[in-house]
Amino acid sequence: MTPFSSVAFEYHPLRDSSFTEISRAGLIWHHLMDLYASQYDLSIRTALDLGTGFGHIVTVGSQRFGIDVIGMDLRRAVYQGPAERFVEHDIMTPWPFASGRFDLVLECLLFDDLVGLQKKQKQDVTSHLSSEIDRVVRKRGYFFSHSSSSRDLILPSFELLADDRSFRLYQKRSLKKSNFGE
Ligand SMILES: C[S@@+](CC[C@H](N)C(=O)[O-])C[C@H]1O[C@@H](n2cnc3c(N)ncnc32)[C@H](O)[C@@H]1O
Repeated sequence: MTPFSSVAFEYHPLRDSSFTEISRAGLIWHHLMDLYASQYDLSIRTALDLGTGFGHIVTVGSQRFGIDVIGMDLRRAVYQGPAERFVEHDIMTPWPFASGRFDLVLECLLFDDLVGLQKKQKQDVTSHLSSEIDRVVRKRGYFFSHSSSSRDLILPSFELLADDRSFRLYQKRSLKKSNFGE
């Protein structure tokens, strides 16, 4: 059983939980688990939660499921997860992580905020985010998004695996397509 399989196994009883700290994270994990259970072997051991806010995804992912999750946010003020799992950083500047560091990068409701705020520089914003996501996700790794604005991201090295309302799961291709269509 992969680490993510055990997450899926444990997750299902949790998802109807009334605990408020699970409710936000629950939305995301619910979709990941359903996608995983139905189609994919995600094999996720490391994850980056962009704009983590309270850090629910970090807390649930690391403490409950043993995934190495880092939460990154502009402000530490509202974060309630494990201190060592938080990185205070503006995602609009280069991210402080090595290339290929994560199996999964995810964001919940962050891009809607960003694109709304930065309409004038929308192209710069989306191209910076696309290139950092591409850089820090390992080959065959994943990007999971829950923001309607993430439709504007152009992710040339990813393929869209699933698109369910504002939930989208992408997988990074292992090789660039050759000119000969091989
Ligand atoms: C709508 S909240 C979503 C929080 C959390 N992902 C959730 O679903 O509960 C957006 C979060 O993005 C953070 N954020 C906004 N701009 C950011 C930036 N440039 N860099 C990093 N974080 C940012 C905010 O501080 C806030 O915590």
